[in-house]
Amino acid sequence: MHKLRVIFDTDPGLDDAIALLFLLGARDEIELLGVSCVAGNVGIEAVSRNARIICEWADRRDVEVYAGAARPLVRHLVTAEHVHGKTGMEGAPMHTPSMALQAAHAVDFIIDTLRREPAGTVTLCPVGPLTNIALALLKAPDIAPRIRQIVLMGGAYFAGGNVTPAAEFNFYVDPHAAQQVLHAGIPLVMLPLDVTHKACTSARRVAALASLPNHCGPLAASLLTSFERHDVKKFGQIGAPLHDPCAVAYLLDPALFQGREVNVEVETDSPLTQGHCSVDWWGTSGRASNALYITEVDADAMFARMAQAMINLP
Ligand code: BDR
Ligand code: CA
Repeated sequence: MHKLRVIFDTDPGLDDAIALLFLLGARDEIELLGVSCVAGNVGIEAVSRNARIICEWADRRDVEVYAGAARPLVRHLVTAEHVHGKTGMEGAPMHTPSMALQAAHAVDFIIDTLRREPAGTVTLCPVGPLTNIALALLKAPDIAPRIRQIVLMGGAYFAGGNVTPAAEFNFYVDPHAAQQVLHAGIPLVMLPLDVTHKACTSARRVAALASLPNHCGPLAASLLTSFERHDVKKFGQIGAPLHDPCAVAYLLDPALFQGREVNVEVETDSPLTQGHCSVDWWGTSGRASNALYITEVDADAMFARMAQAMINLP
């Protein structure tokens, strides 16, 4: 079977951790070329450590993990310890990873991989601030036409914001990077809050993971329980939106999702609405579309797919 070849760009992060476990469990369908880390939910040292811890939970010390940008392109770094805890993975069993971080910078890893692999074969899946991807495109514009597609978690329009009333966290942290990536002329799929808020945890969905006869299923369930605490309080609903795993589910099965080709612009200047996405849902601007903007998901099928993948983990 033809495998998708993917670079996963991430800032773990509890939902990033679930997404990476999901991806590692789907190894028959996805070839993970490497994990590039970016400062976001917590600082660069913590996210680079967390990514390796997650790989070790899955017994995948062979995965190459790279540290990338320590701060956004223009702004100072804003983190989300209030959601993910001080370590970035509150409630998770932490250890000092035995696998080493790769020596190269994540941005160079992205550039070198795209230049080395046949054009059109590598998909980027960023689920944190888009700093690494923007830096790679700035440093090596020749890689843009070589990227098969970008499937990212970030942005919001109909759902409002989750870090300010106007903005989603990943786009708020580095709006300049988001705007640049959206205008790089690369086929791009956006999984914004509008869809992730329709893929929420529930007692039944978490229990399905908890009952898997391995170590990683119950571990994922406990991470979700920790992740839920903050969101349930904040959004007043019974479960937490499973943001980053939506991007992995899309890679595996785009038919679970629905969206529209639209123009998306990101606010970079206004202090009030920084990181806000102006999504031209009704085509009123006349601007060319630059993203497939996803708004619908078959959440039951997505959670089932996740459990099905995680059963392949130790
Ligand atoms: C995004 O923000 C982060 O806190 C999550 O990991 C996710 O990538 C959701 O807004
Ligand atoms: Ca994330």
